[in-house]
Amino acid sequence: MKILITGNMGYVGPAVIKRLREEYSPKAELIGLDTGYFAHSLTDSLVLPETLLNQQIFADVRDIDQDFLVDNDLTDLDAVVWLAAISNDVMGELNPDLTKQINYLSAVNLAKLLKENAQKLNKQVSFTFASSCSVYGDGSGSGFDKDGNKLPVDENSEVNPLTAYAKSKRETEIALEPLADSTLKVTCLRFATACGMSDRLRLDLMLNDFAAGAVTEKEITVLSDGSPWRPIIATEDMAGGVAYAIQRSNLDEKGGDYLVVNIGSNDWNYQVKDFANMCGEAVDRTKVSINSAAEPDKRSYRVNFDKFTSLADKKYLPQETLQTAVEKLRDGIQNTPTIDTNYRTSKYMRINTLKGHIKEGRIDQNLRWIR
Ligand SMILES: NC(=O)c1ccc[n+]([C@@H]2O[C@H](COP(=O)([O-])OP(=O)(O)OC[C@H]3O[C@@H](n4cnc5c(N)ncnc54)[C@H](O)[C@@H]3O)[C@@H](O)[C@H]2O)c1
Repeated sequence: MKILITGNMGYVGPAVIKRLREEYSPKAELIGLDTGYFAHSLTDSLVLPETLLNQQIFADVRDIDQDFLVDNDLTDLDAVVWLAAISNDVMGELNPDLTKQINYLSAVNLAKLLKENAQKLNKQVSFTFASSCSVYGDGSGSGFDKDGNKLPVDENSEVNPLTAYAKSKRETEIALEPLADSTLKVTCLRFATACGMSDRLRLDLMLNDFAAGAVTEKEITVLSDGSPWRPIIATEDMAGGVAYAIQRSNLDEKGGDYLVVNIGSNDWNYQVKDFANMCGEAVDRTKVSINSAAEPDKRSYRVNFDKFTSLADKKYLPQETLQTAVEKLRDGIQNTPTIDTNYRTSKYMRINTLKGHIKEGRIDQNLRWIR
């Protein structure tokens, strides 16, 4: 088994590498490919996560073509896991066209090359795409119940991507569909919002931000009234989704050649105030302030994850509990001296790192390294 993982040196990548090494060890050849924007953003890890790989390639996904695959001995891949992305709404809006090129066009380009090469070798390959529940937009795609509350969205709900980031995810899903066949198995994993500890932690995610506030300031400030619903998932459980996608059968009753599936758990649809309270309880003497006077937040939605539960074996389904995720975050943050009360202006916010690279002349406006 020869697997290429793009965008492996980010927040989610280390958990994916670890899981794939466990699934396929020792025979699999695992190869990472990343340009390395956040490669230096390690937290308390004692071992570089990439040591679990057979090879780390530093390259830009926009430069992948057939010559690149030949030069790097990547024409006989069995699977590609596509994590590479300008990976949230704020970064995506820096330059929507670049977001489109990196997140969407480069992903589809590699899927086409993967398929062409597989046809030459007469073998079946898989392309696993890290999509996002952000394609559902405000989450009203399933309509409302009689009390006016949004019904949970599922894979048949209308999508309504609102940002450059979300649009790039949806455009990729659409472009991958016609490529899928008995040669190329495509799985689009619509991940819930990620959370939890990672060798490359990021603190621009709600639960992680609450945990950092609790540890460093003994205070969690919830700007909304705390009522909005959010589906979240721990990075280890995202990795379970990736492992599922690579090995899944493409027989019709198991999802077919092209599968779009929400990755998360119905049990992890919580209200923001529950996340805040849980983080508050995990760290002694933490004050949780909820702005009960705030206007109701329209960005409230729940997601239905029944399809994943019905398709995947239990070992691929979410295993973490919110409590264990919060405790790992708490311990990880406590053990990382570079996370302090200034964490919101630190490298653990991806946008700060990216803007810092540009400001200091390390990367140009096209997000290319200046060598
Ligand atoms: N974290 C979440 O909440 C979440 C939720 C849903 C989906 N996802 C998706 O999962 C994937 C992984 O997310 P993450 O949180 O680890 O993101 P991340 O930003 O931490 O990591 C993305 C990686 O892609 C790399 N990358 C970006 N542009 C590149 C380029 N041009 N060439 C090569 N590498 C490039 C970056 O260097 C980085 O290491 C992304 O596709 C993201 O959109 C994440």
